[in-house]
Order: sequence, then C-alpha cells, then structure tokens
Amino acid sequence: MRISVIGCGYLGAVHAASMVELGHDVVGIDVDEPKIATLRDARAPFYEPGFEELLGRNLRTGRLQFTTDMSEAAGAQVHFVCVGTPQKRGEYAADLRYVEAATESLLQVLQPGDLVAGKSTVPVGTAARLAETVGEKVPGALLAWNPEFLREGFAVQDTLHPDRLVYGLPADGDGEVAERMLDEVYAPIVERGTPKVTTDYATAEMVKTAANSFLATKISFINAMAELCEATGADVKQLADAIGYDDRIGRKFLNAGLGFGGGCLPKDIRAFMARAGELGADQALTFLREVDNINMRRRIRMVELAREVCDGSLLGKRVAVLGAAFKPDSDDIRDSPALNVAAQLQLQGAVVRVTDPAALQNSRRQWPQLDYAETAEEAAERADAVLVLTEWKQYRELDPVAFGGVVAQKRVLDGRNALSRTAWTEAGWTYRALGRRAG
Ligand code: UDX
Repeated sequence: MRISVIGCGYLGAVHAASMVELGHDVVGIDVDEPKIATLRDARAPFYEPGFEELLGRNLRTGRLQFTTDMSEAAGAQVHFVCVGTPQKRGEYAADLRYVEAATESLLQVLQPGDLVAGKSTVPVGTAARLAETVGEKVPGALLAWNPEFLREGFAVQDTLHPDRLVYGLPADGDGEVAERMLDEVYAPIVERGTPKVTTDYATAEMVKTAANSFLATKISFINAMAELCEATGADVKQLADAIGYDDRIGRKFLNAGLGFGGGCLPKDIRAFMARAGELGADQALTFLREVDNINMRRRIRMVELAREVCDGSLLGKRVAVLGAAFKPDSDDIRDSPALNVAAQLQLQGAVVRVTDPAALQNSRRQWPQLDYAETAEEAAERADAVLVLTEWKQYRELDPVAFGGVVAQKRVLDGRNALSRTAWTEAGWTYRALGRRAG
C-alpha cells in the first residue's frame, strides 16, 4: 500500500520506517525542515535504540521518503496523523492546533476512498468532529482512530510487535471498509494473532488516555506507599516486590522513586481531567489530581533529602546529578523529574553539575542556566552529594569503590531505587533513597 505519515516526531518517524518494514511505500511529512533533512540523511533526530538502523535499512529500499511538501501525500490510500498534542500553556487541556493544521492541509490532497487514521493522543470527541469535516470536504473519504502505545526507548519493538491493535471505526458499512484497510496496513501483525479491538471513536480515544492514567496511578500508588514507608520505617522496594507477586497486581510500574515525567503521562492525565470537566464528569477523575500531586511531591522530597544529607543546608554544596532524561534510553527531557530537581537544588544555592549519556545536548539547550559534565566522574568531582535521578545502566553499574575516590563526601541519593544499597554502604557511602531507611 501507499501510506503517508503526517508528523515525524518519535511516533511518526518510527511509524513511517516501520510501515516500510511491513512492506509498504511510505512518505513521511513534517513542517520541520531540519528534522526532515536529518531523516533523509538516515540519521535519527532523537535518541531511540534501534531506530537509526531501521531507518537506514528502509531508506535503502527506496520505498521510504521524507518531505515537507504535503502534496506528496496525494496518491496514498492511508494517511496517518502522528502530530503532537502538547499541554496548552497555562491550562490542563491538550493543544490541538497541530492536529487541526495537519487535517486541514491533508484535506487538500485527500481523495474519495482514502482513509485518515489518527494516531495522536486526543481528547475524546475529537475523532467524531474530524470525521465530520473529512466527510463534508471529501465525500467518500473515511476516518479511523488507531491509538499508539509505544514507549520511548522501545519504540521500534512496540511499533512492530504491539501487544494489541485498537481501531476506532465509523458506524455501519464504512467501518468495515476502514477495518479492512487497517488490516491490510498491519497484515503481518494481524496474521500473527495480535489481539485486536474494533470499536467506536470515543472508546478508541479513551483506551489511550485510560491506559496512561492507569500507569500513572500505579506509579503514584507505590510512591504514596513510599511516603508512608518514610513515615514508618518500612521499605517500599520490598513492599513492591511482595505485593507484585500477586499477579492481579503485578510488579511492573511499581518502581517507587522520583515519579513519572516525559511527553505523555503528565500531560495526558491533565488533558483527560480537563476533558472530563468539559463533559460534566470531572468527579470521575478527581483522583487523577491526587495522582499528579503525589508525583510532584516526590520531586520536592528529593530536594529535602538532598538538604538533609548535606547537613541541613544546600548553600554552596557541590551536588552531582546523574541523569537528565525523563527515563533511561531516551534523550527526551520533557517534564523530566531529574532536571526539575537539579533546577530546584540550584535555586536553593547548591552548585549543581548534571550529566547524562544521551540528553546533554537537549538539556543544555532547554536549561542553559545549569552546569553540565560529560561523564559521571566529572560531574561528581569533589561533590558533597551524588544524586542518581535517571536509572541509566551506566549509573546502575557504577563501581562504588572507585567512584568513592572522586567525591568529597561519600553520600549517594538513589532517586530511582536502582542501586545496590549493600554494595554502596559496604564501600563506605551514606545511602539514601525515597521510601527506604537510611543505609
Ligand atoms: C508512556 C506509556 O508507557 C506508553 O504506553 C504511551 O504510549 C506513552 O507514554 P513513555 O512516556 O515512553 O510511555 O514512558 P514510560 O516507560 O511509561 O515511563 C513514564 C515515566 O514513568 C518515566 O519518567 C519513568 O521513569 C516513570 N516510571 C515508570 C516510574 O517512576 N516507575 C515505574 O515503575 C515505571
């Protein structure tokens, strides 16, 4: 099939290259010229393990093109909308301007029989509204909502081997046509028996926001338990292990620590609350406000913990922050808990040096007021405290004995409960972590 992908961010770029892998002819379109030039050059505009290889391999087939020219979408049968839906400035609601703009320009090239397949995370009700516009402007063209669940760091794997397919389809016979077209797009995935849920627009839109809300709630639940552990002397890591053995609960997404950040979870739960408010159902989601609050409190607690280990004052203390990305295997610093903590420490008078294996360039650009170092050793030179705020493998595997020779004071704060308390304390470090007794 010939496919267009509008929006070449994490989602769109990976989707475009993956669709070629599935056997299609694909054009990826984005308004950002430097991004398109980078992709054409077979370089990834962001850090994503396995993506550059996938991109290079599929560009070489000649079946993958990237352009800023929307007219190149003409002739494609399926058009995926993969643009961002960030949080509105000063509001909780999602900013739909990129979705609107993408659909608007797509209407210029759309032909009867074409399918617009939305992938962006949108407030419930958006697909029905867009379907109406598409139907009015290009009779015979259809719209489906096909949410994407990829995780950064696993984007290629999640796109090519999703754990489920969700199709939000138009009513009646149009729904069958749209379903057949999506089945053809995803043929190898469908054929291997991947679970598929075919439903209406509203359910498909809600599947995505409900999934992200559940994940955020799970993380905040264990972080609330961490607060209690701090008050009682209990150990949140053992608690998570013990409750996680119950397969109704499960151990995944029960890692207590600095909480969630990134371009999805925080803004998606807020947009969901905003939309529920518009629909007069805000009570149903008031618990998400608490999920958000618990999450943000972890960042404050981390700063307090740093002050505590620095003998009650951060003024002039040298603090090393290991990790800037919102999670490992990513260079994404959107709403990064690590950078949030680093900035708070600096504002409170600490001399902060931040390092990260992949996110330094983005961090320097977005947070120029912070000081950066290329390596953990450089960041920790003569430090009074070391904070591990993103659990990169490099940091999990640091040798506490050798690393002890770099710092002024052997004090480590494990913001992600990712280090071996025994190994670090045996090497003479004061070990502190959220939700665990001092080691
Ligand atoms: C998320 C969803 O997982 C994905 O399905 C959706 O498509 C997009 O949003 P992503 O933003 O890539 O993906 O990150 P995810 O792996 O979910 O982690 C989100 C945040 O939660 C990170 O900051 C991570 O450090 C934190 N987290 C995760 C925890 O604090 N504890 C955990 O146990 C798991």
